[in-house]
Amino acid sequence: MEDCKTPMNRFEQVQAELRLTPKTWLVTGVAGFIGSNLLEAVLKLDQRVVGLDNFATGHQRNLDEVQTLVTPEQWMRFRFIQGDIRALDDCHQACEGVDHVLHQAALGSVPRSLADPITTNSANITGFLNMLVAARDAQVQSFTYAASSSTYGDHPALPKVEQNIGKPLSPYAVTKYVNELYADVFARSYGFNCIGLRYFNVFGKRQDPNGAYAAVIPKWTAAMIAGEDVHINGDGQTSRDFCFVDNAVQANLLAATSTDPAARNQVYNVAVGDRTSLNQLFDALKQALAANGIAYGKNALHRDFRAGDVRHSQADIGKAERLLGYVPRFDINRGILAAMNWYISRK
Ligand SMILES: NC(=O)c1ccc[n+]([C@@H]2O[C@H](COP(=O)([O-])OP(=O)(O)OC[C@H]3O[C@@H](n4cnc5c(N)ncnc54)[C@H](O)[C@@H]3O)[C@@H](O)[C@H]2O)c1
Repeated sequence: MEDCKTPMNRFEQVQAELRLTPKTWLVTGVAGFIGSNLLEAVLKLDQRVVGLDNFATGHQRNLDEVQTLVTPEQWMRFRFIQGDIRALDDCHQACEGVDHVLHQAALGSVPRSLADPITTNSANITGFLNMLVAARDAQVQSFTYAASSSTYGDHPALPKVEQNIGKPLSPYAVTKYVNELYADVFARSYGFNCIGLRYFNVFGKRQDPNGAYAAVIPKWTAAMIAGEDVHINGDGQTSRDFCFVDNAVQANLLAATSTDPAARNQVYNVAVGDRTSLNQLFDALKQALAANGIAYGKNALHRDFRAGDVRHSQADIGKAERLLGYVPRFDINRGILAAMNWYISRK
């Protein structure tokens, strides 16, 4: 994909500028999947980074891995705070002296939120509001936060365009929508610069394959590598716009550094603009494993649809392209190959 699309002019420019004039970044949820990928990317640009995490779903091993991927000098520019976004003091401490906040900390997963809506609410809404207050008080330049495609809820249109949303289908979706409402109110009331990134099924290295709430790509990949059964919820025609994590990293850096007034205080779809069914995903993972010398001989087993899941999801990424200069470099196949190397190396 990289070779056939427009070069990433704005992204390259942003990276060059950051190298010349380093900033201080706060990454919340830094020990998680997307947070640790942001940490790695920002440290590699010689930035100073504060990380905040309470290890609810993140892992020290993710931080350890990032340490092996950057230089000792770059690692020295990282300061980790073990803390909780539900505690306002922790948020204030983390925001001190920060230029750009990349707020990722939250409890993900639709089924987790159906099983325990109160805990999801406290991390995703109280924690989010604490972070907004602390970032506003610290007068940060930008506050970029992880929104979610789940906000489209039951709206039937495809592809999904930012302004057309339906009713949320899960407590998780409610929390992510409330984040957008709070961010908008903070932008209007305090002149605060917030940008929401509605991620669509992000995948890649360091995404946790374990636990009841694991996402489909790491969960299936780990099962296939181990020769275990793979379960598809429903008929397998359910579809998603799977987005490799490097695309999400790019969107964060573009959003945080945008100086275009028209681009600020907005929400953006972060995806590729493609749609892949679960049946197609299963075949793609099988093929990627085969290309790496791992034969998975079983067929997937179908079971009931999962409550709260949206049937189809595909993003219109035109707004992020136009206003942020976002150009996803990885389509699903390229992303799967990159992610596969990582999962195989850890088997
Ligand atoms: N992965 C996806 O496909 C996807 C899609 C849409 C939105 N998102 C959002 O992106 C963000 C990152 O998701 P991820 O996939 O990296 O998940 P993750 O679970 O790997 O990372 C979340 C991190 O937040 C931390 N955290 C949770 N509660 C916290 C608290 N109270 N205080 C401090 N830290 C806390 C966790 O320990 C973890 O390290 C989340 O906001 C999620 O809702 C992810």
